[in-house]
This record gives sequence, C-alpha cells and structure tokens, in this order.
Amino acid sequence: MEITPSILTADFCRLGETLEKAIDAGIKWLHMDVMDGNWVVNRTITFGPALIRSVREKVGNDIIIDCHLMITNAEETWKQYVDAGVNMIIAHIEAVQDFPNLINNIRNSGTKVGCVLNPDTPAEPVLDLLTELDLVLVMSVVPGKGGQSFMPEVEGKVRLFRSEINKQIEAGGRETKLMIDGGVKNHNAKLVADWGVDIAVVGSGLINSQASIRENLESITNSL
Ligand code: DX5
Ligand code: ZN
Repeated sequence: MEITPSILTADFCRLGETLEKAIDAGIKWLHMDVMDGNWVVNRTITFGPALIRSVREKVGNDIIIDCHLMITNAEETWKQYVDAGVNMIIAHIEAVQDFPNLINNIRNSGTKVGCVLNPDTPAEPVLDLLTELDLVLVMSVVPGKGGQSFMPEVEGKVRLFRSEINKQIEAGGRETKLMIDGGVKNHNAKLVADWGVDIAVVGSGLINSQASIRENLESITNSL
C-alpha cells in the first residue's frame, strides 16, 4: 500500500522544506486538500491553484500530485488545478451535478479523474461510474480538517469497492485505484491495507511535531 501525505498539518511558511523531507523519505505522491470555505461543514479555507503551482515547481514532474476538491464549484473550476500542474482531480460525488460529464471534460484535458465519497454516502452512485474512474477515494473522516479520528465503519464500503474493482480488472477493464483518506496512522495502516486499499492518505500521522516524516513513514510501512 502506497502512502501519500496530506499537507494540511504542515507549517505553510516552511512547506518547501517539508516537501523536500517527504521526497527524501521516499514519497512519490502528494495529496492536496482544497477547501473553499463553503463546502465542508466547518467552513475551512485551505489553499488554491497558486499554492499547488508552487508545489509543482518545487517537486518537479516525477511526483504525482492529486487534488481533493472539497469545493462547491468543481465543475466550473477544475481546470485551474490542471493548469497549476496536478495529475489527478478527485471530486466529491456529493458536490457534482453531472459526474459523467465532469469525467469526460477532465479526461479530455489529459488528466486523471477520481471520485470521492463521504463516510455516510453509499457506494452505489460511485459504483455506477467505476469503469470510467482512475481512482475511488473513500473518506474515513468527515471532510474539513486533519487530525480527526478514523471511522472504521467504512470497512464494508472499502471491501465492496475492492471486490468490484477486482472484477473489473479481471474482465480486462480499467485498473481503478482505491484510496482511503482520514485518520490513517501507524496503528491502523495494516487494517486498511488488509481491506484492499491501494493508497492511503496520511496527514497528521506523517507531518507532526512528534517525529520526522521519515520516522513516521517508516513506522507506518513497518506496520504493514
Ligand atoms: C480531510 C482531508 C484529509 C486529511 C487527512 O478533509 O481530506 O486528507 O487532511 O489528514 P489526517 O491523516 O490527519 O486525518
Ligand atoms: Zn483529502
């Protein structure tokens, strides 16, 4: 299982150093949490395309950058993030009116597309899109901030996506990736890996004051 940092708990005045340390520690994928101060329940604002552009310039083109859009107008503004240098747009099924149309528009721009669903959103509407998705992201916290507690009740949904994606691949279909996001740390990383997750987003479990990113990453990967 691959680990991708969310930078929400980083010191944004020292973000360049944090990114260097993450890449030195072996990170190959960055997860950028975009919140517009409107869509998430606690009305948080994080950052937009300008910061993502700086991150892309800092890390170069070999690092995968996804952006998790927790915003009200992803269908109108997704291209700003593509222009800022992301490889993948991950949009919320709850926030998009016409997801198939959004998938087509994003894919036609040469960018990968993922769909993310909240802990209380059932799998069905995303299962209907599965053949067209590069990634499904199952939230294991309610979106809005880092450092929240992991919600194990999403196990059934994760395992359902795992089995449907396996069937799709066995039938020669798209190799959709399965990602989880929220509350993953060294004590539960193996749990979600056993559920069949391909990539786990880790924010406060990687970027914190208790240990270095390298030490935190080793602690997680040694637990798998
Ligand atoms: C929450 C974000 C998550 C979060 C993960 O809205 O989508 O990516 O930053 O941080 P931790 O791992 O601390 O829960
Ligand atoms: Zn996220």
